[in-house]
Amino acid sequence: MLRLGRLLFRSEDPGGRVRSPPFVSTPAVLQPLTLRDVTLRNRLIVAPMCQYSVTDGLVGDYHLVHLGRFALGGFGLVVVEATGVTADGRISHGDVGLWSDEHIPGLARIADFLHAEGAAAGIQLAHAGAKASSRRPWDGGGPVTAENARPGEAPWPTVSASDVPAGPGWPAPHALTVDELADVRDAFVAATRRALTAGFDVVELHAAHGYLLHQFLSPLSNRRSDEYGGSLEGRMRFPLEVVDAVRAVWPADRPLLVRVSAVDGSGEGITIEDTVAFARELKARDVDAVDVSGGGIGGSWEHPLGYGYQVPYAARIRAEAGIATMAVGLIVDARQAEAIVADGSADLVALAREAQDDPNFAVHAARELTEGSYELYPVQAGPRLAGRGKLLGSLGPWTGPDPVQVRKPA
Ligand SMILES: Cc1cc2nc3c(=O)[nH]c(=O)nc-3n(C[C@H](O)[C@H](O)[C@H](O)COP(=O)(O)O)c2cc1C
Repeated sequence: MLRLGRLLFRSEDPGGRVRSPPFVSTPAVLQPLTLRDVTLRNRLIVAPMCQYSVTDGLVGDYHLVHLGRFALGGFGLVVVEATGVTADGRISHGDVGLWSDEHIPGLARIADFLHAEGAAAGIQLAHAGAKASSRRPWDGGGPVTAENARPGEAPWPTVSASDVPAGPGWPAPHALTVDELADVRDAFVAATRRALTAGFDVVELHAAHGYLLHQFLSPLSNRRSDEYGGSLEGRMRFPLEVVDAVRAVWPADRPLLVRVSAVDGSGEGITIEDTVAFARELKARDVDAVDVSGGGIGGSWEHPLGYGYQVPYAARIRAEAGIATMAVGLIVDARQAEAIVADGSADLVALAREAQDDPNFAVHAARELTEGSYELYPVQAGPRLAGRGKLLGSLGPWTGPDPVQVRKPA
């Protein structure tokens, strides 16, 4: 458990504007945030990113290096990708899993490394529902079929809220019975307990991007006529039962996050008003922050698209539901991240593709926003880079074309 700083902003008061205390000049996105007993060293988060690169759900060296570099790169919280709570709930055969105790040691090794390098460790728990049994993106995506399956990677039957296929060409999933819902909920609980054993600080439940919990929330995929469908209240029922059950076993000193699709891609689906209502229910159930993403059902995106395109949703949920939010989606610049936190749109800023492109984004952001501070770098690098920075500053930029560009000693 991380206890790196004192409590600066109480999670109970997330609707208030984030302000730097007058005596602190630290930029807002670099200030620590304490959620329950976990203090993040800054508000820059690595969003969950499926790598489709393990066998039988077991992480190894690839994930240690892939995720570990973000801790070395200064991020406050690193969230492990969508992790299957059941084998059948995986998106693909290559997904990370936490459906058995065998999965714990590999993930514990990652959590330990993240902690050793000053980052908090998060894990996203997921069930893919109708989008399970998919091919890896680089194999072409879409459903696995007998014809396109890799050797030993047969397709499996999928489940969902209703028998609505994930898209054209996808098989119809089995509509879960009420008894089967209890099994899925229990699988989320069991995976949560294992995440605790593995040493994670933060659990995030995946209720976005067209996966099972989102399939319950969205009228595009939930056609049930029982108490788990119909009205928004009915569609929220199962996701909220999962939240309740997970919160009951996830310790009171650790934060629980939920990732939502604030809007479905088309106007026929979930609206931001629906998601504000859902966020209010999450807050009432002691969820600490909503990770605000979008889309994933129906294939289309009929909303504005560009830098920070989902930030307005995070801002609205934060203001109207009074819960902390994490903004994500085409956030690519340190000053952009700073503006999001400083103007009170969100408490946390998550990056996925930009972090892959620049795993050192957070240390670079700290340098840019604090006029050259190397303090966030690991000690093995920061002081040496600071020294080199001074030298480079005195030399000015390399102008070329001669690779050797030196000065005589004074
Ligand atoms: C390679 C890759 C894998 C992803 N896997 C997940 C995932 O496991 N869970 C999830 O909620 N979102 C996943 N996403 C979505 C990202 O977390 C993020 O919301 C999205 O990419 C937008 O942020 P960005 O513009 O910073 O990339 C993935 C995105 C990428 C690029």
